Amino acid sequence: MNVEKIREDFPILKRKINNHPLVFLDSASTSQKPVQVINAIKNYYEMNNANPHRSIYQLCDEATQMYEDARKKVVKFINARNDEEIIFVRNTNEAMNIIVQSYAMDNLKEGDEVLLTVMEHHANIVPWQMLQKKGVKIKFVDIKDDGTLDMDKLKDMMSKNTKIVSVTHKSNVLGSLNPINEIGKISHDNGSLFVVDGAQSVPNMQVDVNNINCDFLAFSGHKMLAPMNIGVLYGKKEILERMEPFMRGSDMIKEVQLTESTWNDLPWKFEAGTPNVEGAVGLSTAIDYLEKIGLDNVEKHEEDLTKHALERLRDVEGVKILSAKNGNGMVSFHLSGVHSHDIAYILNDSGIAIRSGHMCAQPLMRRLGVQSVARASFYLYNTKEEIDKFVDSLENVKKVFKK
Ligand SMILES: Cc1ncc(COP(=O)(O)O)c(C=O)c1O
Repeated sequence: MNVEKIREDFPILKRKINNHPLVFLDSASTSQKPVQVINAIKNYYEMNNANPHRSIYQLCDEATQMYEDARKKVVKFINARNDEEIIFVRNTNEAMNIIVQSYAMDNLKEGDEVLLTVMEHHANIVPWQMLQKKGVKIKFVDIKDDGTLDMDKLKDMMSKNTKIVSVTHKSNVLGSLNPINEIGKISHDNGSLFVVDGAQSVPNMQVDVNNINCDFLAFSGHKMLAPMNIGVLYGKKEILERMEPFMRGSDMIKEVQLTESTWNDLPWKFEAGTPNVEGAVGLSTAIDYLEKIGLDNVEKHEEDLTKHALERLRDVEGVKILSAKNGNGMVSFHLSGVHSHDIAYILNDSGIAIRSGHMCAQPLMRRLGVQSVARASFYLYNTKEEIDKFVDSLENVKKVFKK
């Protein structure tokens, strides 16, 4: 993998921040975009823009074709069975809300349970909380002290009442990769539906829905080189077919009477209103880009960077690493006596961008006994030299706070 060549594709990496070359270590929040994706969106607007599925003139046809071709690209990318299983959404949050509103609200009743983990992003906690008004219980599997999921506890907590298990594939704080195949098998053996939050895994490793045998998978394009506001909800066709659409209005209908309507076929039944064609086109181009490099190479590169970052950070006095034993792609840490926002603020003086705060994982922060963390996350365009610069700059942070 030629990282220097890859970097040339990312115009933003040529930027200077405070007279320093940008060191972007916040790709777990959102990735930067290669020129191929930017151009695909520009070309779409310059050449093909029209409202898809609406008419029969040429531009409309082209926009429809591009939108549906992007869906086919996603089908192959995650090894779904067909287009009907791929619903375009804005992001992982929206996908989770659809699962809760369109599936869980109708199928779960008082006394039923949903099993989550303490390491979930808010996107995989807050939507489920809506079920509590129906008397559904939400339970949380704990992590072990090494930051990995406590699988013994998960098994213990499964019961005949567990109707849904929803777990992140990879934690956005600990970087831990959960044993998703095993959790899927345990869920299905128990008769529970299995939902995977793939927001942090799909961008940097091969995720195959057929292999992991999940019932739903959610992920966001913006974390994998594509634009914001395009994401995917994968669902098994036989489950999606039984679900009522939650977002209602235009395009998702077959026929509208004054007081009732019937629904369009899958997947459009879940896509109300004018869709995000340029987002889908951008996502399709991003998938091409990632596949050309090879997701295995991306994953391996992140492993190398994570190992290097951990080695360097362990030598910095006052740093406490909060990543899991099996963490990859990111390093979350604490610097003694310095708030994470102060770390991020001072690193910005050297052009370095890291994430600070609660990481949209407040329950996990409480479990770790902290209010916030600083997180450096890596992607295919990052280098060891950038990590060195980041670690060296932590000395500046320490100097400021010693005064
Ligand atoms: C594990 C995980 N799940 C869900 C999300 C939410 O993604 P989005 O904001 O694109 O909906 C994120 C974003 O950081 C995440 O890391």
